[in-house]
Formats: sequence, C-alpha cells, structure tokens
Amino acid sequence: MQKEKEEQLQRVNAICRHPLWQTSRKRIEELEQDRVFCGHDVIHFLDVARLAWIENLEQQLGLEKEHVYAAALLHDIGRHLQYEQGIPHEEGSVMLAGEILRDCGFSDAECLKICDAIAGHRAKKTGKDGGLAGALYRADKASRMCLFCAADAECNWPEEKKNREVRI
Ligand SMILES: [Fe+2]
Ligand SMILES: [Fe+2]
Repeated sequence: MQKEKEEQLQRVNAICRHPLWQTSRKRIEELEQDRVFCGHDVIHFLDVARLAWIENLEQQLGLEKEHVYAAALLHDIGRHLQYEQGIPHEEGSVMLAGEILRDCGFSDAECLKICDAIAGHRAKKTGKDGGLAGALYRADKASRMCLFCAADAECNWPEEKKNREVRI
C-alpha cells in the first residue's frame, strides 16, 4: 500500500518536473502577467485537483487519485497555444499532455482517459459525467472565486455560472 502510494506520488511529481510542463507553465505566466481575469497558474491547477478529489471522496466516484491530479495539472497547460496560435486550449493541452503522460509512465489506457477528460473540460455536457471528466469539469468551474473578484464587472462568464457564495 505504502509502495503504491509512493509510486503514484512519483508519477504525479514527474509531470511537474517535465520540461514541456515547466516551459508551458512559465510561458502562460508571462502571457498572463497583465491579465485581470482568472489565471491559469499552478494554484488553479492544484485547486482543481483538490476540489475534484473532495468530490470523489464525498460522492464516492471511485476515481484514481493520480488520474485526478494528472488531469488537473495538465488541463490548462496548453493555454499559451491559445494565446499565441489561436488553438483552443483544451486541444492544445491534450497535444502536450499525451507526450508528458507517456514520459511520466502512464499507460496508453490511462493517457486516453486523462486526455479525454482534458478535451471535454470546456463542454457543458461534460458537467453531467459521473467519471473523471465530470469531476474535472465541475472542479474547474467551482475553483473560480467570483465573489472576491475585482474584475467581476468585465468578466464575460454568464451570471448563472459565477460562484457568488462559498460552497461547502
Ligand atoms: Fe480551461
Ligand atoms: Fe481551468
């Protein structure tokens, strides 16, 4: 059990050490330096991971912890490709995630599952999914703290989507 936990920790941390993940994260940081709206930084990635994991525990979804963390750490990693090349960032993130996941020891089946979740993280229908994709989608939306946001008035999120209350 302990060994299994350590192996999971290693694969998740290998993602954060991967050169492609690191250079992408830094590029996003540079490009979002003056952004007033929600950013796509490592705090967001980890908020999403933890919220998705909490939902998994509360709703007993039966997800693998490292799949939740891997999907969250990678779901917006292609954001710079959207800024620089106009590639929708869920597609850009999948392009980068495949290579990173394989290099970090995830199997083809795991890559497919995680990349599917990333690919669907902006599609409304994913919100109803009961697996990894749905948990990622809901955590992504729930992670945004609209009630404390200084750019609220300029934000184009529909009012019904905005998080106006602390949810427990
Ligand atoms: Fe996103
Ligand atoms: Fe996100």
